[in-house]
Amino acid sequence: MRTINSIFSKSGYSIARNETVKRAASYPFLKDSFLRTLRDYETVLRTTIFPELPATEKRHELMLELIGNPLIEAFYILNFLHLSLAVEGDVCEFGVAEGTNSALMANELLRSSRSLWLFDSFEGLPKPTEKDRMLDDIFDLGDMASYEGKMAHPQSRVKARLEAVGFPQTRTKIVPGFIEKVPEKAYPDKVCFAYVDFDFYEPIKIALERLHTRTAPGAYVVVDDYGFFSEGAEVAVTEFLAAHSDAYETISPEPHAKGFMALKKLSTGR
Ligand SMILES: C[S@@+](CC[C@H](N)C(=O)[O-])C[C@H]1O[C@@H](n2cnc3c(N)ncnc32)[C@H](O)[C@@H]1O
Repeated sequence: MRTINSIFSKSGYSIARNETVKRAASYPFLKDSFLRTLRDYETVLRTTIFPELPATEKRHELMLELIGNPLIEAFYILNFLHLSLAVEGDVCEFGVAEGTNSALMANELLRSSRSLWLFDSFEGLPKPTEKDRMLDDIFDLGDMASYEGKMAHPQSRVKARLEAVGFPQTRTKIVPGFIEKVPEKAYPDKVCFAYVDFDFYEPIKIALERLHTRTAPGAYVVVDDYGFFSEGAEVAVTEFLAAHSDAYETISPEPHAKGFMALKKLSTGR
């Protein structure tokens, strides 16, 4: 953020956290100004970090709807999503909540033939394990056990967001239920990109293992909340990489964009 802000301050702009942007953007007279700033931000990012990121319509409007993800993370996700389209397979999101990020990704896939697979309990977070040591008390609940059942949203809200971006129902694959109980046959055969945003150790570990057998070299997996909220995300990634050491390149974001980790598949390996 500091790096980008230092570039922007030269032109009189500064990039705020997206909660601030969203609140401010609810005033119609400010929305246009934020959209213009986002366009400029994207131009700077394209010349500094993401030279291959294509432009798409409605991207910035959808970014203003995001709830948890900082804008810089959203740009990373979209960049990896587009790079992954060089390989075969569908796109997945593990943990969709009310579908703001799903709609953002769906919008990018409109011109492709890829399906979007959305996995969520729609009953919120499961019980945390002992590996889910609290790093940040994001809702001020006092302990990790109190997070069970939080972040539950109805499937209908996700469907409405996808419809609003015009993503075809035939390419929308919603898989409801706790991932621990989702059978292998309910997953796509091939995956080119996945965004894993389950927050807790156990479901993240399961998603990574399921993806491992479905991804080819060139595929990307982005794991959110790495070093944030629950320690479980980082522990799951570390354990997974220890078991599949030669198969992935890890890509840490720039220092101003921490809080997630990207894995690029290199070989089918172990
Ligand atoms: C942080 S939210 C996802 C946010 C969403 N990716 C976004 O960017 O707006 C976490 C979601 O994961 C889901 N979830 C967590 N653990 C799960 C599990 N074991 N099985 C299925 N869904 C799970 C919760 O229901 C919740 O909707």
